[in-house]
Amino acid sequence: MACTRLILLGPPGSGKGTQAKRLSDTLKTAHVSTGDMLREARAAGTELGRKAGECMDAGRLVPDAVVIGLVAERLRKPDCEPGFVLDGFPRTVAQAEALDAAGVGVNCVIDIDVADEEVVSRLGGRRSCPQCGRVYHVEVAPSKDGTHCDGCGAGLVTRPDDVEDTIRARLKVYHEKTAPLAAYYRGKGLLKTVESVGGPDAVFGKVLNAIGAR
Ligand code: AP5
Repeated sequence: MACTRLILLGPPGSGKGTQAKRLSDTLKTAHVSTGDMLREARAAGTELGRKAGECMDAGRLVPDAVVIGLVAERLRKPDCEPGFVLDGFPRTVAQAEALDAAGVGVNCVIDIDVADEEVVSRLGGRRSCPQCGRVYHVEVAPSKDGTHCDGCGAGLVTRPDDVEDTIRARLKVYHEKTAPLAAYYRGKGLLKTVESVGGPDAVFGKVLNAIGAR
């Protein structure tokens, strides 16, 4: 039986959001993206969103306590009952320990592996829908007209943290704070590594194999 309580690990631009959306559609589970939740809080103009926005624009992590609180609340919602795909959480060992301490059982952790220079190229070409969150790439996965979302028709934007200096800052944070989570979950026997090569469709096939869904 396929895993339905999943974590997607991996550097910025590895394709976590792209794969999480496909997985949650296929498995009929909730897609829980901390990046999306923080961007929504920012767009809503809340104090939390304003502070988080400062961290995100600088490529730093938002403090653990803030993100842990957001995720704990989100996982209590009914749409998470059939399962969930955690995209961008946990990102530190403290966040992973908080998930364990809260008794949130996870049955598979997929680590999406990609080289740093590929990340810089992918994020430099990413275009995002500010309304429905769909993600495109100017060459690999363009929208039909190249400038508007195929799903909701909104004009596509470049995320403020998708500029090269900030991408490199995010990669540094990833290697220091998030990469150690692979060992954490390997130690629990939950880790599967998937190479992010061959385009989104090919990677999705590998992810489905890794979680036992095909
Ligand atoms: P978040 O929004 O989570 O950003 P991220 O982890 O840096 O990941 P990205 O969204 O940049 O990339 P992705 O892996 O989802 O790739 P995507 O599918 O879009 O977080 C943003 C910020 O919020 C953080 O920097 C931090 O400040 C804060 N934050 C979030 N969570 C936090 C937490 N837990 N704790 C503290 N702070 C937190 O794909 C990228 C591009 O590549 C797209 O253009 C796509 O079309 C293309 N692509 C996808 N797959 C492929 C493929 N196989 N081949 C070629 N191109 C591909």
